[in-house]
Amino acid sequence: MIEADKATRESLTWVKFWAPNLFSFRTTRDPAFKFAAGQFARLGLALASENGIEEMVWRPYSIVSATSADYLEFCSVLVPTGQFTRALSARAEGSEILVEKDPYGFLTTDRFDDGESLWMIATGTGLAPFVSMLAEKEHWSRFRHLVVVHSVRYARELAYAAEMRQIAQRFSSDARLARFHYVPVVTREATDFALSGRIPTLLDSGELEGKAQLKLVPELARVLLCGNPQMVTTMRKALSAKGFAASRRGQPGTLAVENYW
Ligand SMILES: Cc1cc2nc3c(=O)[nH]c(=O)nc-3n(C[C@H](O)[C@H](O)[C@H](O)COP(=O)(O)OP(=O)(O)OC[C@H]3O[C@@H](n4cnc5c(N)ncnc54)[C@H](O)[C@@H]3O)c2cc1C
Ligand SMILES: NC(=O)c1ccc[n+]([C@@H]2O[C@H](COP(=O)([O-])OP(=O)(O)OC[C@H]3O[C@@H](n4cnc5c(N)ncnc54)[C@H](OP(=O)(O)O)[C@@H]3O)[C@@H](O)[C@H]2O)c1
Repeated sequence: MIEADKATRESLTWVKFWAPNLFSFRTTRDPAFKFAAGQFARLGLALASENGIEEMVWRPYSIVSATSADYLEFCSVLVPTGQFTRALSARAEGSEILVEKDPYGFLTTDRFDDGESLWMIATGTGLAPFVSMLAEKEHWSRFRHLVVVHSVRYARELAYAAEMRQIAQRFSSDARLARFHYVPVVTREATDFALSGRIPTLLDSGELEGKAQLKLVPELARVLLCGNPQMVTTMRKALSAKGFAASRRGQPGTLAVENYW
């Protein structure tokens, strides 16, 4: 339970549905709220409970927007039976939403030494922190390649594909900055552009490295995993077997993860 005085009262300023089960939204941002790209905020909604009494319900949400933006943007799944997302998806612009004053999370690249490539591997809304990271010039200068692998059930859920390409375009004129590699994965329908099959299978088969034309080895790559906990567990095991490791006692690592449930 988070006390309401640990949060600021913000309002919903923009909502966009990518698909019936997936939407993005923006809130006003308290100027005192600072975060690092990759972190998450705790959001609160006042919801009527079964006995009719209003209660605050809180959920963590990765921040999509750039650290410099004067708003906060988030991307949400709609779980039909989910208490928070069912209510949130029905809120109109102008509605109140609470944002806890402090950000959280360790899915940040300060845990890594510089490497040749940064692999940002997501399922579903796990893409959110990586959009924020792409907006930071620091990542384009620290790595020679930035790779986003995004796995969704249906192609319409490939949120932010155009936005990520636009960000990459902004940095493309400077040859000293990283190159962008976008690897969409669609698992439940055929497309002529995306890989099909789950991420761990695509790692085993060599298709991920093939599509990015880069080696996924700890000597060169730094890896962030985010989203479905089963994907995270399977990938963490597979990458550990290749020599990837989390940072420990101040020692920089090559792997960082975040589970969404
Ligand atoms: C650190 C962290 C960051 C998170 N960031 C995001 C985010 O940026 N966007 C987001 O949509 N959710 C995010 N989540 C999950 C989010 O907090 C809620 O769980 C989610 O929005 C559903 O809330 P709910 O009350 O409707 O359902 P809940 O009762 O919270 O969840 C019900 C079930 O829905 C499924 N589920 C929950 N979240 C997701 C999801 N994101 N994608 C697919 N299935 C899911 C799980 O099976 C879960 O058991 C994050 C969670 C954590 C721990
Ligand atoms: N996406 C939809 O069409 C849809 C529709 C209605 C409601 N929902 C709600 O949304 C939630 C699911 O959202 P979501 O589709 O974003 O999340 P998800 O089920 O985690 O699926 C996202 C991507 O992750 C893949 N994946 C799932 N488990 C994996 C594993 N163990 N290893 C590797 N990859 C894995 C999926 O592949 P697979 O396709 O192989 O599972 C899919 O490509 C559900 O709670 C549901 O209530 C979704």
